[in-house]
Amino acid sequence: MPLIPMRALLDHAAEHGYGVGAFNVNNMEQIQSIMMAATETNSPVIVQASRGARSYSNDNYLRHLMLAAAELNPSIPIAMHQDHGNSPATCFSAIDQGFTSVMMDGSLQEDGKTPASYEYNVDVTKQVVAKAHALGVTVEAEIGCLGGIEDGHGAGLSGDEALEHLTDPDEAERFVADTGCDALAVAIGTSHGAYKFTKKPTGDVLKMDLIAEIHRRLPDTHLVMHGSSSVPKELIDIINRFGGEMPETFGVPVEAIQEGIKHGVRKINVDTDNRLAITGAIRKVFAESPGKFDPRDYLKPAREAMAEVVKARMIAFGQAGMADKVPHVTLEEMAKRY
Ligand code: G3H
Ligand code: 13P
Ligand code: ZN
Repeated sequence: MPLIPMRALLDHAAEHGYGVGAFNVNNMEQIQSIMMAATETNSPVIVQASRGARSYSNDNYLRHLMLAAAELNPSIPIAMHQDHGNSPATCFSAIDQGFTSVMMDGSLQEDGKTPASYEYNVDVTKQVVAKAHALGVTVEAEIGCLGGIEDGHGAGLSGDEALEHLTDPDEAERFVADTGCDALAVAIGTSHGAYKFTKKPTGDVLKMDLIAEIHRRLPDTHLVMHGSSSVPKELIDIINRFGGEMPETFGVPVEAIQEGIKHGVRKINVDTDNRLAITGAIRKVFAESPGKFDPRDYLKPAREAMAEVVKARMIAFGQAGMADKVPHVTLEEMAKRY
Protein backbone atom coordinates (compact mmCIF):
# COMPACT_ATOMS: atom_id res chain seq x y z
CA MET A 1 0.00 0.00 0.00
CA PRO A 2 1.39 3.46 -0.77
CA LEU A 3 2.00 5.73 2.22
CA ILE A 4 -1.26 7.23 3.45
CA PRO A 5 -2.00 10.63 4.99
CA MET A 6 -1.84 10.43 8.79
CA ARG A 7 -5.25 12.11 9.00
CA ALA A 8 -6.93 9.06 7.44
CA LEU A 9 -5.40 6.86 10.12
CA LEU A 10 -6.25 9.19 12.99
CA ASP A 11 -9.84 9.60 11.76
CA HIS A 12 -10.22 5.82 11.81
CA ALA A 13 -8.65 5.67 15.27
CA ALA A 14 -11.08 8.31 16.54
CA GLU A 15 -14.04 6.53 15.03
CA HIS A 16 -13.06 3.27 16.73
CA GLY A 17 -11.61 4.67 19.97
CA TYR A 18 -7.99 3.58 19.71
CA GLY A 19 -4.58 5.27 19.73
CA VAL A 20 -1.67 4.91 17.31
CA GLY A 21 1.95 4.82 18.43
CA ALA A 22 4.26 7.08 16.42
CA PHE A 23 7.72 5.57 16.54
CA ASN A 24 10.89 7.46 15.65
CA VAL A 25 13.35 6.03 13.15
CA ASN A 26 16.92 6.82 12.12
CA ASN A 27 17.95 3.71 10.21
CA MET A 28 16.87 0.54 8.44
CA GLU A 29 16.77 -1.66 11.55
CA GLN A 30 14.33 0.62 13.35
CA ILE A 31 12.02 0.71 10.34
CA GLN A 32 12.24 -3.08 10.13
CA SER A 33 11.41 -3.44 13.84
CA ILE A 34 8.26 -1.37 13.42
CA MET A 35 7.18 -3.31 10.35
CA MET A 36 7.87 -6.65 12.09
CA ALA A 37 5.65 -5.58 15.00
CA ALA A 38 2.99 -4.22 12.64
CA THR A 39 2.73 -7.39 10.56
CA GLU A 40 2.65 -9.60 13.65
CA THR A 41 -0.15 -7.58 15.20
CA ASN A 42 -1.96 -6.39 12.04
CA SER A 43 -1.39 -2.77 13.06
CA PRO A 44 -1.40 0.43 11.01
CA VAL A 45 1.70 2.51 11.72
CA ILE A 46 3.03 6.02 12.00
CA VAL A 47 6.76 6.15 11.35
CA GLN A 48 8.33 9.47 12.22
CA ALA A 49 11.67 11.13 11.62
CA SER A 50 13.05 14.14 13.46
CA ARG A 51 15.24 16.74 11.79
CA GLY A 52 18.19 15.00 13.42
CA ALA A 53 17.08 11.66 11.98
CA ARG A 54 16.74 13.15 8.50
CA SER A 55 20.22 14.57 8.59
CA TYR A 56 21.71 11.42 10.19
CA SER A 57 20.22 9.03 7.67
CA ASN A 58 19.99 11.44 4.72
CA ASP A 59 16.57 12.10 3.17
CA ASN A 60 17.25 9.92 0.16
CA TYR A 61 18.08 6.84 2.20
CA LEU A 62 15.11 7.45 4.43
CA ARG A 63 12.71 7.91 1.52
CA HIS A 64 13.79 4.70 -0.14
CA LEU A 65 13.69 2.75 3.13
CA MET A 66 10.13 3.92 3.70
CA LEU A 67 9.15 3.00 0.15
CA ALA A 68 10.69 -0.42 0.72
CA ALA A 69 8.64 -0.81 3.91
CA ALA A 70 5.47 0.02 1.99
CA GLU A 71 6.40 -2.28 -0.90
CA LEU A 72 7.23 -5.21 1.38
CA ASN A 73 4.18 -4.78 3.59
CA PRO A 74 1.30 -4.02 1.22
CA SER A 75 -1.35 -4.80 3.83
CA ILE A 76 -0.07 -2.27 6.39
CA PRO A 77 -1.21 1.36 6.15
CA ILE A 78 1.83 3.53 6.86
CA ALA A 79 1.93 7.27 7.53
CA MET A 80 5.35 8.93 7.27
CA HIS A 81 5.60 11.90 9.59
CA GLN A 82 8.06 14.75 10.16
CA ASP A 83 8.54 14.98 13.93
CA HIS A 84 9.08 18.48 15.42
CA GLY A 85 9.45 20.52 12.26
CA ASN A 86 11.08 23.73 13.50
CA SER A 87 10.03 25.95 10.57
CA PRO A 88 7.78 25.97 7.52
CA ALA A 89 10.89 25.30 5.40
CA THR A 90 11.60 22.05 7.27
CA CYS A 91 8.00 20.93 6.80
CA PHE A 92 8.01 21.85 3.11
CA SER A 93 11.21 19.91 2.48
CA ALA A 94 9.66 16.89 4.21
CA ILE A 95 6.61 17.16 1.96
CA ASP A 96 8.92 17.34 -1.06
CA GLN A 97 10.55 14.11 0.19
CA GLY A 98 7.23 12.28 0.25
CA PHE A 99 6.29 12.58 3.93
CA THR A 100 2.50 12.27 4.24
CA SER A 101 2.32 14.21 7.49
CA VAL A 102 4.28 16.99 9.15
CA MET A 103 4.51 18.53 12.57
CA MET A 104 4.96 22.28 12.59
CA ASP A 105 6.16 22.83 16.14
CA GLY A 106 5.61 26.56 16.45
CA SER A 107 5.36 26.35 20.24
CA LEU A 108 9.09 27.01 20.08
CA GLN A 109 11.00 29.39 17.88
CA GLU A 110 13.08 28.11 14.99
CA ASP A 111 15.96 27.29 17.38
CA GLY A 112 13.74 24.56 18.85
CA LYS A 113 14.41 25.90 22.36
CA THR A 114 12.88 29.31 22.96
CA PRO A 115 9.15 29.40 23.74
CA ALA A 116 7.40 31.31 20.93
CA SER A 117 4.47 33.73 21.07
CA TYR A 118 0.94 32.63 20.26
CA GLU A 119 0.99 34.88 17.16
CA TYR A 120 4.22 33.33 15.86
CA ASN A 121 2.84 29.84 16.38
CA VAL A 122 -0.39 30.66 14.51
CA ASP A 123 1.53 32.32 11.69
CA VAL A 124 3.96 29.47 10.96
CA THR A 125 1.32 26.78 11.47
CA LYS A 126 -1.08 28.49 9.05
CA GLN A 127 1.63 28.68 6.39
CA VAL A 128 2.21 24.95 6.70
CA VAL A 129 -1.50 24.06 6.78
CA ALA A 130 -2.10 26.02 3.55
CA LYS A 131 0.54 24.17 1.55
CA ALA A 132 0.14 20.76 3.20
CA HIS A 133 -3.62 20.54 2.92
CA ALA A 134 -3.54 21.51 -0.74
CA LEU A 135 -1.49 18.31 -1.21
CA GLY A 136 -3.51 16.16 1.19
CA VAL A 137 -0.70 16.11 3.76
CA THR A 138 -1.65 16.09 7.45
CA VAL A 139 -0.50 18.79 9.89
CA GLU A 140 0.21 18.31 13.57
CA ALA A 141 0.79 21.48 15.60
CA GLU A 142 1.66 22.12 19.25
CA ILE A 143 0.38 24.52 21.85
CA GLY A 144 2.09 24.74 25.23
CA CYS A 145 5.69 23.63 25.82
CA LEU A 146 7.05 20.30 26.94
CA GLY A 147 9.53 20.23 29.82
CA GLY A 148 13.15 19.15 29.59
CA ILE A 149 15.76 19.57 26.89
CA GLU A 150 17.60 16.32 27.23
CA ASP A 151 17.47 15.38 23.56
CA GLY A 152 17.70 18.89 22.17
CA HIS A 153 13.93 19.30 21.79
CA GLY A 154 12.31 21.56 24.28
CA ALA A 155 12.59 24.79 26.14
CA GLY A 156 14.75 23.36 28.91
CA LEU A 157 12.06 24.18 31.42
CA SER A 158 12.48 22.90 34.96
CA GLY A 159 9.63 20.95 36.57
CA ASP A 160 7.90 24.10 37.94
CA GLU A 161 8.48 26.17 34.79
CA ALA A 162 7.13 23.34 32.66
CA LEU A 163 3.95 23.35 34.72
CA GLU A 164 3.56 27.05 33.82
CA HIS A 165 3.75 26.17 30.11
CA LEU A 166 1.08 23.47 30.14
CA THR A 167 -1.52 23.74 27.39
CA ASP A 168 -4.28 26.20 28.22
CA PRO A 169 -7.60 24.70 27.01
CA ASP A 170 -8.94 28.17 26.02
CA GLU A 171 -5.86 28.84 23.94
CA ALA A 172 -5.99 25.36 22.41
CA GLU A 173 -9.54 25.96 21.25
CA ARG A 174 -8.63 29.34 19.74
CA PHE A 175 -5.47 27.92 18.15
CA VAL A 176 -7.29 25.13 16.29
CA ALA A 177 -9.87 27.62 15.02
CA ASP A 178 -7.08 30.00 13.94
CA THR A 179 -4.93 27.40 12.17
CA GLY A 180 -7.08 24.48 10.96
CA CYS A 181 -4.46 21.90 12.04
CA ASP A 182 -5.50 18.24 12.01
CA ALA A 183 -3.80 17.11 15.19
CA LEU A 184 -2.69 18.98 18.27
CA ALA A 185 0.21 18.11 20.55
CA VAL A 186 -0.53 19.17 24.09
CA ALA A 187 1.78 19.83 27.03
CA ILE A 188 0.51 17.95 30.06
CA GLY A 189 3.71 17.54 32.08
CA THR A 190 5.68 15.08 29.95
CA SER A 191 9.14 15.69 28.51
CA HIS A 192 11.35 13.94 25.99
CA GLY A 193 13.98 11.41 26.95
CA ALA A 194 14.51 8.94 29.78
CA TYR A 195 14.41 11.29 32.77
CA LYS A 196 10.83 12.45 32.94
CA PHE A 197 9.84 11.87 36.56
CA THR A 198 11.72 11.03 39.75
CA LYS A 199 8.88 8.82 41.02
CA LYS A 200 5.83 7.16 39.52
CA PRO A 201 3.89 10.20 38.27
CA THR A 202 0.65 11.22 39.91
CA GLY A 203 -1.91 13.80 38.77
CA ASP A 204 0.07 16.73 40.20
CA VAL A 205 2.85 16.30 37.60
CA LEU A 206 1.15 14.34 34.82
CA LYS A 207 -2.01 16.27 34.04
CA MET A 208 -4.26 13.75 32.37
CA ASP A 209 -7.29 15.81 33.46
CA LEU A 210 -6.14 18.54 31.04
CA ILE A 211 -6.51 16.07 28.17
CA ALA A 212 -10.13 15.42 29.08
CA GLU A 213 -10.86 19.16 29.24
CA ILE A 214 -9.17 19.88 25.89
CA HIS A 215 -11.00 16.98 24.27
CA ARG A 216 -14.31 18.26 25.65
CA ARG A 217 -13.69 21.58 23.87
CA LEU A 218 -12.13 20.11 20.71
CA PRO A 219 -13.88 16.78 20.14
CA ASP A 220 -12.90 16.70 16.44
CA THR A 221 -9.19 17.43 16.88
CA HIS A 222 -6.85 14.50 17.26
CA LEU A 223 -4.75 14.97 20.39
CA VAL A 224 -1.10 13.97 20.46
CA MET A 225 0.99 12.99 23.48
CA HIS A 226 4.72 13.65 23.10
CA GLY A 227 7.32 12.36 25.52
CA SER A 228 5.24 9.24 26.04
CA SER A 229 7.84 6.60 26.61
CA SER A 230 7.10 4.54 29.68
CA VAL A 231 10.80 3.98 30.49
CA PRO A 232 10.24 0.44 31.79
CA LYS A 233 12.44 -0.57 34.72
CA GLU A 234 13.18 -3.91 32.99
CA LEU A 235 14.86 -2.09 30.09
CA ILE A 236 16.92 0.14 32.40
CA ASP A 237 17.90 -2.97 34.40
CA ILE A 238 19.18 -4.77 31.28
CA ILE A 239 21.30 -1.76 30.34
CA ASN A 240 22.74 -1.51 33.86
CA ARG A 241 23.29 -5.27 34.17
CA PHE A 242 25.54 -5.14 31.13
CA GLY A 243 27.71 -2.16 32.00
CA GLY A 244 25.33 0.80 31.63
CA GLU A 245 24.96 3.50 34.24
CA MET A 246 21.44 4.82 34.22
CA PRO A 247 19.95 6.17 37.45
CA GLU A 248 16.45 5.25 38.57
CA THR A 249 13.86 7.09 36.51
CA PHE A 250 10.16 6.98 35.63
CA GLY A 251 8.21 7.54 32.43
CA VAL A 252 4.57 7.80 31.45
CA PRO A 253 2.71 4.68 32.60
CA VAL A 254 0.96 2.82 29.79
CA GLU A 255 -2.28 2.96 31.85
CA ALA A 256 -2.11 6.78 31.83
CA ILE A 257 -1.82 6.72 28.04
CA GLN A 258 -4.78 4.34 27.83
CA GLU A 259 -6.76 6.83 29.93
CA GLY A 260 -5.73 9.56 27.47
CA ILE A 261 -6.91 7.45 24.55
CA LYS A 262 -10.37 7.39 26.16
CA HIS A 263 -10.25 11.20 26.01
CA GLY A 264 -9.20 11.92 22.44
CA VAL A 265 -5.48 11.02 22.35
CA ARG A 266 -4.92 9.41 18.94
CA LYS A 267 -1.16 9.70 18.40
CA ILE A 268 1.38 8.67 21.02
CA ASN A 269 5.04 9.50 20.43
CA VAL A 270 7.54 6.89 21.57
CA ASP A 271 11.25 7.01 20.88
CA THR A 272 13.16 6.58 24.15
CA ASP A 273 11.73 3.13 25.00
CA ASN A 274 13.01 1.82 21.68
CA ARG A 275 16.40 3.41 22.23
CA LEU A 276 16.58 1.68 25.62
CA ALA A 277 15.61 -1.68 24.13
CA ILE A 278 18.23 -1.39 21.38
CA THR A 279 20.98 -0.29 23.77
CA GLY A 280 20.23 -3.08 26.26
CA ALA A 281 20.29 -5.75 23.55
CA ILE A 282 23.58 -4.49 22.11
CA ARG A 283 25.20 -4.19 25.55
CA LYS A 284 24.15 -7.77 26.33
CA VAL A 285 25.89 -9.14 23.23
CA PHE A 286 29.01 -7.05 23.88
CA ALA A 287 29.16 -8.19 27.52
CA GLU A 288 28.38 -11.86 26.92
CA SER A 289 30.27 -12.36 23.67
CA PRO A 290 33.17 -9.89 23.63
CA GLY A 291 34.75 -11.78 20.74
CA LYS A 292 31.96 -10.93 18.31
CA PHE A 293 32.54 -8.22 15.71
CA ASP A 294 29.95 -8.82 12.99
CA PRO A 295 27.38 -5.99 13.35
CA ARG A 296 24.60 -8.44 12.51
CA ASP A 297 25.37 -10.32 15.73
CA TYR A 298 24.20 -7.36 17.79
CA LEU A 299 21.90 -5.49 15.38
CA LYS A 300 19.64 -8.51 14.94
CA PRO A 301 18.92 -8.86 18.70
CA ALA A 302 18.59 -5.07 18.88
CA ARG A 303 16.00 -5.12 16.11
CA GLU A 304 14.10 -7.90 17.85
CA ALA A 305 14.19 -6.10 21.21
CA MET A 306 12.75 -2.95 19.64
CA ALA A 307 10.08 -4.96 17.82
CA GLU A 308 8.97 -6.43 21.19
CA VAL A 309 8.53 -2.95 22.68
CA VAL A 310 6.66 -1.69 19.61
CA LYS A 311 4.44 -4.75 19.59
CA ALA A 312 3.55 -4.28 23.26
CA ARG A 313 2.65 -0.62 22.65
CA MET A 314 0.57 -1.46 19.57
CA ILE A 315 -1.45 -3.91 21.61
CA ALA A 316 -1.79 -1.52 24.58
CA PHE A 317 -2.84 1.44 22.42
CA GLY A 318 -5.50 -0.60 20.59
CA GLN A 319 -4.12 -0.26 17.06
CA ALA A 320 -3.41 -4.01 16.89
CA GLY A 321 -5.90 -5.76 14.63
CA MET A 322 -6.80 -2.55 12.75
CA ALA A 323 -4.44 -2.55 9.73
CA ASP A 324 -6.87 -4.20 7.37
CA LYS A 325 -9.75 -1.99 8.53
CA VAL A 326 -8.22 1.43 7.87
CA PRO A 327 -9.70 2.88 4.67
CA HIS A 328 -7.11 3.42 1.99
CA VAL A 329 -7.26 7.16 1.32
CA THR A 330 -4.87 8.73 -1.15
CA LEU A 331 -3.27 12.14 -0.72
CA GLU A 332 -5.32 13.40 -3.67
CA GLU A 333 -8.57 12.26 -2.07
CA MET A 334 -7.56 13.80 1.21
CA ALA A 335 -6.71 17.11 -0.48
CA LYS A 336 -10.25 17.28 -1.86
CA ARG A 337 -11.73 16.78 1.62
CA TYR A 338 -10.07 19.92 3.06
O1 G3H B 1 11.46 14.48 19.70
C1 G3H B 1 12.31 13.74 20.08
C2 G3H B 1 12.64 12.46 19.43
O2 G3H B 1 13.00 11.57 20.44
C3 G3H B 1 13.69 12.59 18.36
O3 G3H B 1 14.91 12.89 18.90
O4 G3H B 1 16.08 14.71 17.61
O5 G3H B 1 17.35 12.99 18.88
O6 G3H B 1 16.15 12.40 16.76
P1 G3H B 1 16.20 13.27 17.98
P1 13P C 1 10.05 9.94 24.30
O1 13P C 1 11.39 10.56 24.50
O2 13P C 1 9.27 9.89 25.59
O3 13P C 1 10.10 8.63 23.65
O4 13P C 1 9.22 10.92 23.34
C1 13P C 1 9.43 10.93 21.96
C2 13P C 1 8.74 12.07 21.29
O5 13P C 1 7.89 12.76 21.83
C3 13P C 1 9.13 12.34 19.90
O6 13P C 1 8.54 13.48 19.38
ZN1 ZN D 1 8.16 15.09 20.72
